[in-house]
Amino acid sequence: MAESSASRGSWNSKLGFIMAAAGAAVGLGNIWRFPTEAASNGGGAFLFIYLICCFLIGYPVMLAEISIGRRTGKNPVGAFRKLGSSRMYSLIGIWGVLCGIMILSFYTVVAGWTLSYTFEEIFFALGFTNWAAWISNTESGWLNAFFSAIFMCCTVSIIRGGVSNGIERATKIMMPLLLLILIILIGYVAYLPGSSEGLTTYLKPDLSKVTPGLIFAAMGQAFFSLSLGLGALITYGSYLDKKENIPQAAVMITILDVLVAFLAGLLIIPAIYLAQTQGITIYQNGAFIAGPDLIFQILPSLFHSIGGLLGSLAGITFFALLSMAALTSTISLLEIPVSYTIDEHNVPRSKAATWIGLGILLISLLISFNTELIGIIDFVFSQVGLPLGGIMICLFLAYEWKTGNAFDELESGSPNFRYSIIGKSWKLFVMFICPAVILYNLIRGFF
Ligand code: TRP
Repeated sequence: MAESSASRGSWNSKLGFIMAAAGAAVGLGNIWRFPTEAASNGGGAFLFIYLICCFLIGYPVMLAEISIGRRTGKNPVGAFRKLGSSRMYSLIGIWGVLCGIMILSFYTVVAGWTLSYTFEEIFFALGFTNWAAWISNTESGWLNAFFSAIFMCCTVSIIRGGVSNGIERATKIMMPLLLLILIILIGYVAYLPGSSEGLTTYLKPDLSKVTPGLIFAAMGQAFFSLSLGLGALITYGSYLDKKENIPQAAVMITILDVLVAFLAGLLIIPAIYLAQTQGITIYQNGAFIAGPDLIFQILPSLFHSIGGLLGSLAGITFFALLSMAALTSTISLLEIPVSYTIDEHNVPRSKAATWIGLGILLISLLISFNTELIGIIDFVFSQVGLPLGGIMICLFLAYEWKTGNAFDELESGSPNFRYSIIGKSWKLFVMFICPAVILYNLIRGFF
């Protein structure tokens, strides 16, 4: 975002927005949360329902968020207040800001693990195996707190400068590298004896495993992974130029995000099955019992099994890239409360970023010492909170702002969108299908 081009800033190039939104989307959600959810919910069946959720629910909500953001040029709270007839509507934005803060608080702890495991791999490569084991102890509250704090400092320092060139540039390099290393590792794992059971579980959907609980989990995962439901893309859309084609950009963001998740599953699910044969207990009596640090337990042993320079290189680059992917996501999460404070309370950017970052870090420190909180906060604010936000965003757009106005906004950059098949279906989806399907699955999954 160039601070000079407008007082609030805007993206530098056409690719800038797509890069930043893809950077926000691709993160721990794809490589940590998705494979864990898929492994605990029947593998291929989860993947299948997840894909449907991304394209039929996620994509329409994404268009809704970006168009609201670009029309108002505001943070989520200000945006709903500006378009709504009553101040009450800003509550949707406040719910989003709250969910964002809570998600960021545990996300920072997991992101801290990506850092500590980067060091673990470096120490291991240098032959300091004791140090490697020491630094990667996810049960140590102090280590968790230390790495969360470092991660938060990085996030704050980038946000202080504006959601700048930094993201655009970092994402341009990181994304292709991340895809490349995933593909290489997938090839390696596929050749290991014992991985085929995992591959089959993941790629052959057993539709008898589709339960209300699975659909609920897949829907929450789609919202989390695409960064939807709390106004992150309202905020990013508010920096977007009127010339840009929103429906097209949203397709690219969705496809890229889904691709990274799919590849991560292709690597990690077989690796989970391998680890299980090597004595790490992941399933007990058919139930999934692994904790939130599962991927950090299994991936290093995979890298070490490659051995040599190649194994070290793979391990270090993988965790370093994952840290960067997590950073472009924490940036988007912190930007929500920060843009809100700048717009609505006239606080300078650097002050807002520092104090809000510190405040959220306090919650992260608490989580560092009680990592079982990760699952609980994730359930309330991501699994339930984001789809709930999605319902409110769709209903607000359809019945308060009105789809005609949204089409006016979307057609700037995408002429005649309302007459296209995607445009016509989108109207149907935001007005009826998305709110109804999300609500139905929330209720069924919850009970
Ligand atoms: N999508 C990110 C991931 O997959 C996490 C994330 C970033 C997010 N910003 C968000 C989730 C906003 C929900 C809302 O890791």
